[in-house]
Amino acid sequence: MRVVITGGAGFIGSHLCDRFLADGHEVICVDNFITGRRENIEHLTAHPRFQLIEHNISHPLHLDGPVDAVLHFASPASPGDYLRHPIPTLKVGSLGTHNTLGLAKAKGARYLLASTSEVYGDPEVHPQREEYWGHVNPIGVRGVYDEAKRFAEALTMAYHRYHGLNTHIVRIFNTYGPRMRLDDGRALPNFMAQALRGDPLTVYGDGSQTRSFCYIDDLVEGIVRLLHLDYAGPVNLGNPNEVSILDFAKEIIELTGSQSPIVFAPLPEDDPRVRRPDISLARKLLNWEPRTDRREGLARTLAYFRRCLAQQTGRAANQRAPEGVVP
Ligand SMILES: NC(=O)c1ccc[n+]([C@@H]2O[C@H](COP(=O)([O-])OP(=O)(O)OC[C@H]3O[C@@H](n4cnc5c(N)ncnc54)[C@H](O)[C@@H]3O)[C@@H](O)[C@H]2O)c1
Repeated sequence: MRVVITGGAGFIGSHLCDRFLADGHEVICVDNFITGRRENIEHLTAHPRFQLIEHNISHPLHLDGPVDAVLHFASPASPGDYLRHPIPTLKVGSLGTHNTLGLAKAKGARYLLASTSEVYGDPEVHPQREEYWGHVNPIGVRGVYDEAKRFAEALTMAYHRYHGLNTHIVRIFNTYGPRMRLDDGRALPNFMAQALRGDPLTVYGDGSQTRSFCYIDDLVEGIVRLLHLDYAGPVNLGNPNEVSILDFAKEIIELTGSQSPIVFAPLPEDDPRVRRPDISLARKLLNWEPRTDRREGLARTLAYFRRCLAQQTGRAANQRAPEGVVP
């Protein structure tokens, strides 16, 4: 297949590039680096079946030659990122989705939209099943992301119903792993960075709010299986193993062997109280469920963050060193 992956230089997108290349496909990565990083795809740039197109997908993209699949993953994804970039987030969810659907239609390609558990908002039902329509505040600060993704889902279904496009929607729940940014503001990188630096771990609210964390390799496997299936409705992918944020902070302290204390700060606006996917549909349709044990996944992620911090420290030391002196 010739596969277009928007947001291919991001955390999830770069792992998808790796996977499709490993499976023998050709990958066209489209990214404007608003939140992605060149380091994520550095190891691929010389690959004969990999191509990077630096482009803002909120503007139309014309490609020569056939395309077999379009996976639309471009979007700021962490709350810090979409609060910093509210209008690009709305644009890439609306115009970017329109442009990628147009590309898939022109090429007769299958299409997969990266949606999110955020479409459920601050949910009134727990765990969340795909039939639940959600509880979203359209004018709240997080509305820029949640509503962009809800619109993206509606547009994807319209292309499926009216143009007969072979579309897929994956509702991704919190995913973690190597290539997350240490400074992206989400709980896991925050806690790991704070623990590794010996700083206090910041828990928002009383820490009783819950999250569930899925390891990146498990998510990628689910996405690949979904892409090959003819099923247009949304499918939750995530890890149903729920943990309170306070317990999670303690787990990270133990794992890192850090002496960091835990401090509490006020809850951000519209922060969801609970989040846990019901993955019965993915189990049934895809014969899928997360396989990576949390401690194993966290250990791999921690090793990656340790390397990032060591590189940062090395760079800082290099900048401080007088000319000609190698620290
Ligand atoms: N990480 C998660 O836990 C999670 C959960 C739910 C949904 N998702 C979805 O998965 C996708 C990827 O998330 P991620 O965690 O890898 O985030 P990320 O920020 O690491 O990656 C997003 C990528 O999209 C690129 N991008 C953004 N706007 C663009 C534009 N207009 N044109 C071209 N490129 C653009 C960024 O530069 C970045 O490389 C997003 O659509 C996100 O909404 C992620």
